[in-house]
Amino acid sequence: MRRLEDLERAHPELQNRDSPTLSVGAPGETELDTIEHAERMLSLDNVFSLDELREWCAKTRAAAGRDVAWLTELKIDGLALNLRYENGSLTSAATRGDGRIGELVTQNALRLADVPERLAGYGHPALVEVRGEVFIPVAAFEELNALQAELRERAYAESREKWEHVRSAGKKAFDEEARRRSAERRFPAFANPRNAASGGLRQDLDKKEGLELEAGEARLGSLRLYVHGIGAWPDPPVAAQSEVYELLAGWGLPTSPHTRVLATDAELADFVHHYGENRASVEHELDGIVVKVDELALHAELAETSRAPRWAIAYKYPPEEVQTRLIDIRVGVGRTGRATPYAVMEPKLVAGSEVSRATLHNQEVVVHKGVLIGDLVVLRKAGDVIPEVLGPVAEARDGSERAFVMPTECPECGHELRPMKEGDIDLRCSNPRTCPAQVRGRVEHIGSRGALDIEALGEVAAAALTRPARNAQTGEELAPLLPTEEGLFDLELERIVPLEVVVTDPETGEDRVGDDGEPVRRAPFQRIEKVYPPGWEDATPAERRRAGVRKDHLIVHPSAQAVKLLEELERAKTKELWRLLVSLNIRHVGPVAARALAAYFGSLDAIRAAGRDELAAVEGVGPIIADALLDWFEADWHRVIVDRWVAAGVRFSIPDHPGPGAASAAGGVLAGLTVVATGALEGYTRDGAQEAIVQAGGKAASSVSKKTDFVAAGPGAGSKLAKAESLGVRVLDAEQFRILVTEGPGALPPAEA
Ligand code: IVH
Repeated sequence: MRRLEDLERAHPELQNRDSPTLSVGAPGETELDTIEHAERMLSLDNVFSLDELREWCAKTRAAAGRDVAWLTELKIDGLALNLRYENGSLTSAATRGDGRIGELVTQNALRLADVPERLAGYGHPALVEVRGEVFIPVAAFEELNALQAELRERAYAESREKWEHVRSAGKKAFDEEARRRSAERRFPAFANPRNAASGGLRQDLDKKEGLELEAGEARLGSLRLYVHGIGAWPDPPVAAQSEVYELLAGWGLPTSPHTRVLATDAELADFVHHYGENRASVEHELDGIVVKVDELALHAELAETSRAPRWAIAYKYPPEEVQTRLIDIRVGVGRTGRATPYAVMEPKLVAGSEVSRATLHNQEVVVHKGVLIGDLVVLRKAGDVIPEVLGPVAEARDGSERAFVMPTECPECGHELRPMKEGDIDLRCSNPRTCPAQVRGRVEHIGSRGALDIEALGEVAAAALTRPARNAQTGEELAPLLPTEEGLFDLELERIVPLEVVVTDPETGEDRVGDDGEPVRRAPFQRIEKVYPPGWEDATPAERRRAGVRKDHLIVHPSAQAVKLLEELERAKTKELWRLLVSLNIRHVGPVAARALAAYFGSLDAIRAAGRDELAAVEGVGPIIADALLDWFEADWHRVIVDRWVAAGVRFSIPDHPGPGAASAAGGVLAGLTVVATGALEGYTRDGAQEAIVQAGGKAASSVSKKTDFVAAGPGAGSKLAKAESLGVRVLDAEQFRILVTEGPGALPPAEA
């Protein structure tokens, strides 16, 4: 996140509107109702060492212009909750959501002992939002998992009992394994308190009964809350955050016992050190320390960035490290042919989830880390997310370990692995055209959001189309339907429906194996309808049972995904040129470069006809991408792809484009102007608005700065609109935007004063 922030500061034009730096959290996939918070719920910026913390304190003191009292708290590893109280009564409780809009969990929140429906005392404000963290205490978490184990046993016992009671003709033997698995799925062990808390708060108890209800109630009952802030309260009657906590405690809200007000850097370091050593003594899981400026007047003065306040910081403890056995080092091949060694380890729980794989990047990293196959290794999650092997526990060696040898042949197609150019560390498979791993990766990339955005062309569909398959009904072995991506737009329903394929893990390229040890097979393009054998359609259930007749006659239909895939492919043929350029899998040509190329040249033919200098001179392209384009056109088989796609109806041009460079050469009505489009602009899609700006010779930027000339804002425009207003940048509605991109700024009505 920090690197991304630095990069975006240096290159604001590269900041996408969906950049994680602009959002506070991810919107969850859920069916809960939502509510807009009265005041945005922000996140916290992080520091990872005491030096960085001291630096932040010094910077904050300098910005404040005086000495600052620090309020220190524990960073509770739970989930944020926003309690809205109006005149002392709880009117809603919501999760953080994306920071602006949260999910409503009022009914569940009201069942928590820590959440008062009415605040104690009197003199409550008309509206106040109380923010806090919901968590499951460590001890309660253990009890909860013990209960899950018990419920698993009871579920299993219940299913056996049912089996014994329901005696029917032709009944199959009791499948112990399957029943155990089913009980495990119903009552799994929770990986960590945080996930258990999040699911617990968002469940719908009304939809549960029996053992599930019992589990759900226990989960809700184990939730606790500590409040750590307020929102939407313009003038609280206190001067410091620590006093806010006293006030909230007086209203009957739970505050953390671990909060302190400290004065010096040395005291802060002691606090950090103390809880680093005594994490286990705290009732909840914590992943760091939060340091806040205590004085409220300074909060307003220091203000906030787009995602976090400047008056608070989170100090994150170093990630948890565990040891596990390195069983093997294997090599995966990706879309670009790069061969990546990765560690296969005995599964181990680290920072809340089970890890058994970690990338080792390339053969030199393996040597540099000094790990041998068979070693006990130290494993952690970088940034608490990405598994990383740190190195071996050399003392634990017994001599049976062996060194990894980078293969010289592609594990997928057997062709030679070699560096693309002299001096490259990475090795690549030398068979880009038909290496199944590369074709699979490219086809998946074609379907991805930044390319042709074909929802039905995901991981499984791409595998089914590019791997050797078998006919799901006859078992006949089938050669890959797409040995290369050439035939993608010629697919036919009859050919794809029968395909059944082994699913691979996208990260490792390994075949997935099911609980039964068999490879996981999928037939994504068919839907099976089970019907009774001829003559039995109209029999009563009792008759069928007596005769032991089951629904075992099968009719194969195309699945909804199959139909959708072909429809989406048809639509994709005339999508924006830049998307089609991205889908060609040309090195370095992602959405940004592709947009620049499309806007300047207007067609693939014009790009192909251009020389290196002309390509490199286009803003947003440059020499590296120019070379990549020339290299790409060199390969005959790339031209075959284009020709076949064109023959199938793919349109590699922008209709009515005036020709290479015309927009900028003729000046264009927006030449020299920078425009930001935000929110829903009527008559334009997001991409369409950007394209209109570029086509008119302007620069389509994604963030607002002093250099921005116009901001076109529609409904849903957020911080960019606010920023434009604060900088005095002229804001246009959709109709004015249309005038701007077609007739230029001179045609706009005068700005209101
Ligand atoms: S204050 C505007 N204090 O950490 C700042 N947050 O990574 C609001 N968290 O969204 C947060 N313990 O959900 C604050 N003592 C604490 C916290 C805490 C945990 C969570 C909170 C926040 C997230 C940011």
